[in-house]
Formats: sequence, structure tokens, C-alpha cells
Amino acid sequence: MVDDAKLHQFMGQMLSDLGGAASIALVRIGDALGLYKALHVKGPMTVAELAAEAGVHQRYLREWLSHQAASNYLSYDPSTQKFALPEEQAMVFAIEDSPVYMPGAFDLMAALLDSQPKVAAAFRTGGGVAWGDHGACLFCAVARFFRPGYHNNLLSAWLPALDGVVDKLNRGARVADVGCGHGWSTVTMAKAFPNSQFIGYDFHPGSIDAARVHAQSHGVAKNTRFEVGTAKDYGEADLDLVTFFDCLHDMGDPVGAGRHVKQALTKDGVWMIVEPFAHDNLKDNLNPVGRVYYTASTFICTPASLSQEVALGLGAQAGERRLRKVAAEAGFTRFRRATETPFNMIFEARL
Ligand SMILES: C[S@@+](CC[C@H](N)C(=O)[O-])C[C@H]1O[C@@H](n2cnc3c(N)ncnc32)[C@H](O)[C@@H]1O
Repeated sequence: MVDDAKLHQFMGQMLSDLGGAASIALVRIGDALGLYKALHVKGPMTVAELAAEAGVHQRYLREWLSHQAASNYLSYDPSTQKFALPEEQAMVFAIEDSPVYMPGAFDLMAALLDSQPKVAAAFRTGGGVAWGDHGACLFCAVARFFRPGYHNNLLSAWLPALDGVVDKLNRGARVADVGCGHGWSTVTMAKAFPNSQFIGYDFHPGSIDAARVHAQSHGVAKNTRFEVGTAKDYGEADLDLVTFFDCLHDMGDPVGAGRHVKQALTKDGVWMIVEPFAHDNLKDNLNPVGRVYYTASTFICTPASLSQEVALGLGAQAGERRLRKVAAEAGFTRFRRATETPFNMIFEARL
């Protein structure tokens, strides 16, 4: 027997979910045309005022603004017919350095949709989808998605949570940032610690090109180097710190990657592992954060791992217990959760 009240409630959820999904393209249009930033800088505007400011056609803009107001992304004052971007929404849509700046997340959702046919085909074969085989600049979206987290946490909270690491970095340390993608984490550290040397490795050549450009434009070309390389074949040794930002679970052979870190570190070196926040048991991950991470895991992380040797397929919600096992199998005797945010866990592993 269908329970009408439950059906009604679920349809309410579906309507809200559909509205969110439909907003992906509209948020990206607002972002690309500078509409949020214009509202943030200039304050409340009518359709005509914003159209003139942003150089867009009024008829389209009226529909877009109406959608944004219906979504609670903008506010609307019927007495003045002006639309406004409230301060809290500005942190999400307009202020790039805010900890909750989210346009990258919308880019990411668009990139996932683009990969749907490849991932659906892999469901049948059990094979992987290689990182570089995704389209729609998934790589740019991932970099943009993660940057606010690094910008707001890495120097202020994550590195200081590791035992003695900031002192070493200030004195002058040798660091490898493995799976560095577009290099935001590497550049952030290199800027803060000019006495240290940073080498970013990633097996995706396009990402390494982008990382080199970021290093140049942020003035850290002198103490950074970026090389194409897998997590198991870089030649650097005597490293004080090896960092893995949101990439260990993407690897086919995370234990092999850990063994490579072990032989590349000095005796008292540190392996810093940043992973998506997750509990150990599925039932505890059935929440809004888990929902987004399981999406990324289905589309990107698990297919990336299954496309590589060993194909362990940790998934983006592996949890501390499983990650601790990886570090132990790689030969690390000490492993602790140094700190966490609602979205990330930061681990310190030592020999
Ligand atoms: C989710 S992205 C994170 C990128 C970057 N660390 C960041 O936080 O923006 C995962 C990265 O791991 C890289 N990757 C995956 N498997 C790898 C492997 N076996 N060796 C080297 N890089 C790998 C991918 O190319 C990708 O850039």
C-alpha cells in the first residue's frame, strides 16, 4: 500500500532535487557572464541596470534573475523591482577566496554529466575510465572546486596540525606534492615557504602544463618544479614531506604509491594524506556530504582507480580505518588523523 503522506513528502524532495540539478547550467551562465560579481560589486539592480552593467540582453536576463530569486540565490524587492545578492550568497557565488565559494562545484557537476556515457559503459565491463579520458575540462573543475579549501585551511590549520612540519618548511625543506593536478596546493605552500623547494608530480600532462602556468603567474617559479610522473615512478629522494591532496583514493595502487613515498622520504619525513571526509561505515555516510562524494566517486574516483594497475578502487568514501590499512601495508608504522574539516580528513603518516 502506498502511503500518500510519504509519497507527498518524497515528491517534495524530488522537486527540490530537480530544481538543484536544473540550476547547474544557470549558475554556470551567471558565473561565466559575471552576473554574480556585478551584483556583488554594484549592489541591488533592476533587470535593465544589470543588463547594462554586464552587457547582456534584458529578455534573457529577466528569466535568469527570476530563476535565481525563485532559488533563493538572489533576493527580490517588488517595491523597487531590484534583485540583490545577499552577503551569504555572495560568499558562495562571488567571492573567490571565501571558504564556501562553490562555482567550481557546479562546473564539476556539468563535467560529470559529460562523462555519463563513458561511465555507464564501464558499469557493464567493470573496466575503468582513465583520468585523462574525461572531457569538459573535468581537471579545471576539480582544481577550482578544491582551491577554496586549500586557500582557507592549508596554511592556517592543516600544515600546523602536522608535528614539526611548519618549522621544517620555514627552515627549508624538500617537498613533493604527488597527484598535484593543477598545482594549487603546491603553489599555496611554495608562496608561504620561500626557503623550501616543491616538486609537483601528476601523470596527467595537461594538468602539469596548467600547474606550471599557475606557478609562473603566482611568482613561485623559482621554488617549484612540475613534472609528469606517476605516484610510483618519480625519482626524487631525501624528501622531508610528501603530500597527497585528494588523490590517494584515485590511484589504482595506493599501497604501491605509499611504498614509493616510504623510500623517497628521509627517516623522520612525513607523508601527509588529505582525503575526503568519510566515516568507516556506509550507514554513517548517508548524508548530504556523502551524497556528493559518492557521486564524484562513481563518476571519477572509482573509474580512475579501476583504469590503473592493481585497480584497488578505494572510492572517495574509504574512511580512516581503510586508509590506515593502506598506510600500514605500505610500511608506515605511525598514522594519525591530524585534523579535519566537514569535507576533508588530514592524516600524518610516519615510518
Ligand atoms: C581529484 S584530483 C586532485 C588533484 C589535486 N591534488 C587537487 O587537489 O586539486 C586527483 C589527481 O590525481 C592524479 N592521479 C591519479 N592517479 C595517479 C597516479 N597513479 N599517479 C599520479 N597521479 C595520479 C590525477 O591526474 C589527478 O590530477
